[in-house]
Amino acid sequence: MINAGSFVLLFSAGVIFCDDSVHTTVLDPDGKYHISWELLREEQEIVFHLEVQTHGYVGLGLSPNGGMNGSDIVTGWIKDGKIYFQDRHGTGNRLPPVDRTQDWHVLSGNENDTHTSLVFRRKLITCDQEDMEID
Ligand SMILES: *[C@@H]1O[C@H](CO)[C@@H](O)[C@H](O)[C@H]1NC(C)=O
Ligand SMILES: *[C@@H]1O[C@H](CO)[C@@H](O)[C@H](O)[C@H]1NC(C)=O
Repeated sequence: MINAGSFVLLFSAGVIFCDDSVHTTVLDPDGKYHISWELLREEQEIVFHLEVQTHGYVGLGLSPNGGMNGSDIVTGWIKDGKIYFQDRHGTGNRLPPVDRTQDWHVLSGNENDTHTSLVFRRKLITCDQEDMEID
């Protein structure tokens, strides 16, 4: 089992990813969840960096409507130096099932005394009905 961690839903994902610059934002009131993302237009990919003050899992969901259901979710954690990373999809207020095809790819992951950080990428359009398209 993984420890309690930190999970955040990004609302209206499609719109905010439409420009080229690097974006950085803090997604929780305690300032523990830092995210930045970068659109690689030529590669048609998006790269996310998460830095979260936790030793449990970190999760990110892209939600079409602000809810869990129908959202495109990744979860990851580091244990004994190994990265665990899964592409999931929200089906309501419960543990999101793992997608049949894994369209998000982890690039690096690290855990130190205070933080878990993950870097991962995804094609903007995955052609997977369990993912959300980013356009
Ligand atoms: C989730 O959305 C699907 C499709 O829109 C719907 O059929 C289902 O009832 C919803 N589930 C929950 C728990 O809201
Ligand atoms: C732990 O990692 C976080 C996030 O990458 C970083 O901000 C922090 O400085 C690191 N702490 C130490 C002691 O290296």
